[in-house]
Amino acid sequence: MLKNDQLDQWDRENFFHPSTHLAQHARGESPNRVIKTASGVFIEDRDGNKLLDAFAGLYCVNVGYGRQQIAEAIADQARELAYYHSYVGHGTEASITLAKMILDRAPANMSKVYFGLGGSDANETNVKLIWYYNNILGRPEKKKIISRWRGYHGSGLVTGSLTGLELFHKKFDLPVEQVIHTEAPYYFRRADLDQSEEQFVAHCAAELEALIEREGADTIAAFIGEPVLGTGGIVPPPAGYWEAIQAVLKKHDILLVADEVVTGFGRLGSMFGSDHYGIEADIITIAKGLTSAYAPLSGSIVSDKVWKVLEQGTDENGPIGHGWTYSAHPIGAAAGVANLKLIDEMNLVSNAGEVGAYLNATMAEALSGHAHVGDVRGEGMLCAVEIVKDKDSRTFFDAADKIGPQISAKLLEQDKVIARAMPQGDILGFAPPFCLTRAEADQVVAATVRAVEAVLG
Ligand SMILES: Cc1ncc(COP(=O)(O)O)c(C=O)c1O
Repeated sequence: MLKNDQLDQWDRENFFHPSTHLAQHARGESPNRVIKTASGVFIEDRDGNKLLDAFAGLYCVNVGYGRQQIAEAIADQARELAYYHSYVGHGTEASITLAKMILDRAPANMSKVYFGLGGSDANETNVKLIWYYNNILGRPEKKKIISRWRGYHGSGLVTGSLTGLELFHKKFDLPVEQVIHTEAPYYFRRADLDQSEEQFVAHCAAELEALIEREGADTIAAFIGEPVLGTGGIVPPPAGYWEAIQAVLKKHDILLVADEVVTGFGRLGSMFGSDHYGIEADIITIAKGLTSAYAPLSGSIVSDKVWKVLEQGTDENGPIGHGWTYSAHPIGAAAGVANLKLIDEMNLVSNAGEVGAYLNATMAEALSGHAHVGDVRGEGMLCAVEIVKDKDSRTFFDAADKIGPQISAKLLEQDKVIARAMPQGDILGFAPPFCLTRAEADQVVAATVRAVEAVLG
């Protein structure tokens, strides 16, 4: 096919890109990479550059690119039935099958799945369900949601509020008043460097408890957290964190939402992060890995405890007043069924655990000794390299120096490897597809060393 040489101009003139410096992009100062095709862990742009995508898109293409089984399932579904809604008890073979497949994999206390399109709308659904739940239980004051600083839960009005990153609040009049934040379980960035991990966990639990007491437990409905902080810096929790937090929540009758948009369906080497860390959630958010991003689909998995109250609510008030036109879209559902089958057939959850551990170990070995690498951390197929200005005093570079973005740009330029410069701090994030091989992990590590050395010596 003839190359369209106007595409760059069309892009800059017409396309409003998310999470982009709009003015620089319109002026042509930022790159415009047009992706054309992809296979396994590699994507290819229209200039023929083949790039190793060590972030799986936005940590979502978990089974890898180019999986024909999923493409065919989508095509078959589109031919047979492209759309029908799921209101008033309607379903399709794909959506009903997928709900069963999800519940078969989810923790035992889970009861039903509500389907949405992306992680943000799933978390919006969760907040509405939580408010409804407390209204049905006759607790109209119990409505606030606690999230953590550096948590990421989406970029809608409520979900952008739940997100604890400055960029997502600034100039948008967020957070809304029903959302409050508590400390991130980020041991490396603890304020008191003398604290042991155990003391830090006790401190996080005490901070949460103090917040609940200040606000009044009867005003707080739920706590939301990712099993491993993702966009906020890829930060696995310190040992004992989830146990300590859950004890506080139980004591004050506060629901727990586990946002498993990144960790659901295998990224940690376990089917769910909740299994991995012993989290007993009341609602679990899923998206990305549900279809490996072959089609948009998300879900809110609701526990028996919440479901019972929702049933009571509809007996008292009529049908639930919540739904999207595209809830349980058949094409997304067909992609989900094929994706979950493929994860099993290719044994990808255990590969994510094994090759992920190898990636983390080799990255730590290669970079921990570098004068400007303060921390190499991860879990399963998630890994982060955090840069510091000075190791002993653990000081950081100025954000304006853009050290993280410089390193990720070098990685791409020198070795055609994609890692993500995380939005807050000089943190290089890796979240490859689960099919990554050890040889590809070696390639990612070697390229990262070269990029760090090119920027920082
Ligand atoms: C943990 C988590 N929750 C929610 C979201 C929002 O998902 P979406 O971008 O599909 O709306 C994301 C996106 O990265 C996420 O990482």
